[in-house]
Amino acid sequence: MWAKPGHAPGDSILTLADSPALRYRCDRYIDEQNFVRVMADDVLRGLTHTPKSLAPRYFYDEAGCALFEQITQLPEYYLTRAEGELLRSLAPALMRDLKPRDIVEIGSGSSAKIRHFLDALAEQNAPVRYVPLDVNGQTAERSAYALTEAYPHLRVHAIIGDFERHLGRVPPAQGRRLAVFFGSTIGNLAPASRHDFLLQVRRLLRPGDRLLLGLDLVKDRATLEAAYNDRQGVTAEFNRNILRVINRRLGADFNPDAFAHRAFYEPSACRIEMHLVPRYPQTVSLAALKVAVGISAGESILTENSYKFTRESSVDMLRCAGMGLEAWFTDSKGRFALALAARDDASSNAR
Ligand code: SAH
Ligand code: AVI
Repeated sequence: MWAKPGHAPGDSILTLADSPALRYRCDRYIDEQNFVRVMADDVLRGLTHTPKSLAPRYFYDEAGCALFEQITQLPEYYLTRAEGELLRSLAPALMRDLKPRDIVEIGSGSSAKIRHFLDALAEQNAPVRYVPLDVNGQTAERSAYALTEAYPHLRVHAIIGDFERHLGRVPPAQGRRLAVFFGSTIGNLAPASRHDFLLQVRRLLRPGDRLLLGLDLVKDRATLEAAYNDRQGVTAEFNRNILRVINRRLGADFNPDAFAHRAFYEPSACRIEMHLVPRYPQTVSLAALKVAVGISAGESILTENSYKFTRESSVDMLRCAGMGLEAWFTDSKGRFALALAARDDASSNAR
């Protein structure tokens, strides 16, 4: 609920005197019990299937979010810097053109990138609502709340949920909407799930609204593989963190150090695959599920796909989901793109 008594959810009344707490609301669609039940099903299915896999959403507990933040600082991980460069240079003109009054950020994490837009919007002196949606409550809530302190015109309505299940819980738009999905996190969805996801995103938009999508681009293998095999081993720790999360939430007894990190580019699918490879055969027990799972040597567990895109594949992906590309921006080295899209019943020609 909104912290201020008498403030109904659809209410857009705002005065500069409103304190940060009065401009902040958070709705949770994931409770611990439900999260663990869904996770138990996912993990059991993933570990008993051949080949074995785990869903990347389980990387992101508090430690996983902190490890991801470290990854974004690594010299090899160009994605965040390239997207940041783009956002810095595009934000003033984009905000002037689009004038969004309702910004939905999917997979918002630390909500760091949206500050480029909020800074640019501050000059417009108009009330704006920010709706971050993330599966990790602690990081998302802390970061989103901090924004209400930094931006006096901002109301925040955080949603703690799964972007594959809870996009329908995003509140109705208050004014022109911009949905953003940064970091190329869309690349962590398999093509079929990505299509379903984009159909849901389209439902968030009305004519005049826009989607801004961060996309890592297909490039030479060496650059791609270096980004997922950093010399400091942070990505390896991030990868192993999924086992720690499963140990804690499902009472499993994985020894994370008994698994080697492996990440490589698979050009036929345009994706980086990230695996955990057991150093020796082992049996892991999952107490919450009352099962034990054998993992033979050499049998790797796929923990993440990170698909890479071209302008062509992005246009196709958007078109299949009923959206059209309006503008395509790339960073100075052509490594990363921001695709601006609208519903195909509302878009003008691609620039
Ligand atoms: N957008 C930020 C963070 C990217 S990391 C950036 O560009 O830097 C990916 C984020 O997506 C994490 O915050 C993670 O918690 C969130 N996430 C991953 N899977 C999710 C899911 N299924 N539903 C909701 N959030 C998810
Ligand atoms: C969040 N996501 C886009 C990151 C990626 O690049 O696929 C997660 C990540 N995995 C390893 N390093 C970073």
